[in-house]
Amino acid sequence: MFSEGATIQRGYVWLVGAGPGAADLITLRGVKALQRAEVVLHDDLAGRDLLELCREGTEFIYVGKRAGGHSASQEEINRLLVSQARAGRQVVRLKGGDPSVFGRMGEELQALRAAQIAHEIIPGVTAACAAAAAAGISLTQRGLASAAVLATGHECAGKSGPPLDWEALAQPGTTLCVYMGTRSLPDLARRLVANGHAAETPLLIISDASRPQQVIRAGTLESAADLAHDAEGTPSLVVIGEVAAQNPEWQTAAPARTYAHASV
Ligand SMILES: C[S@@+](CC[C@H](N)C(=O)[O-])C[C@H]1O[C@@H](n2cnc3c(N)ncnc32)[C@H](O)[C@@H]1O
Repeated sequence: MFSEGATIQRGYVWLVGAGPGAADLITLRGVKALQRAEVVLHDDLAGRDLLELCREGTEFIYVGKRAGGHSASQEEINRLLVSQARAGRQVVRLKGGDPSVFGRMGEELQALRAAQIAHEIIPGVTAACAAAAAAGISLTQRGLASAAVLATGHECAGKSGPPLDWEALAQPGTTLCVYMGTRSLPDLARRLVANGHAAETPLLIISDASRPQQVIRAGTLESAADLAHDAEGTPSLVVIGEVAAQNPEWQTAAPARTYAHASV
């Protein structure tokens, strides 16, 4: 437990979930870690505003994939985490959403364990939950869905193991939450329909959930390709399944609907 005033040993790493983008969606524990950090390794999806919570003198190391620029490889990030902690520093690795969901946290944990670096994981609001909140839907609405699957639409080329069996995953009673899925969505929607899924299966694409520029696009597997085309280039979460139709505007869906950003 991260308690006020607790002594954190030198050479410590917090793997912190920054949440989906709005600065006030990080956890209090995440904020405390940022306030203690001497160095923060951050990337694109972790909200910039959060860096302002750090104390003066904190070093920021950008390890993201800024367009056109150099991006740190995962191995470089692992090495940096270990070397900074070995130098006795208190390190935050700030990651968008939750670090355990499509965040390559597994590799970072392995590196920290191998180097025997003390560390803690601080969870965050993952994009699927932020997207559901933005759209006003329950991912596991009683009577409509008994399971919600977090899947990637962008499987790595060199990955081991079989490719995802989308037809098996997209069963009635299951909500599919697809991360990094706008590019592959036209193909995925075609495949699902070709394999017997109803073309009218409801679908939402929630882009920039929780951010001021948030956009929600509502449609079906049939209109998925057009919606995906419009959403490409923005961080977007695709929700496929009956629960998508619980979005208040879904019934009268125009191709794209923009919602006002609500913040507390
Ligand atoms: C590399 S994954 C990281 C996921 C992150 N660890 C999480 O738990 O949300 C990046 C993908 O997450 C989704 N994503 C992240 N932030 C989002 C947001 N604010 N709105 C919608 N989708 C988002 C998008 O599919 C994006 O391409």
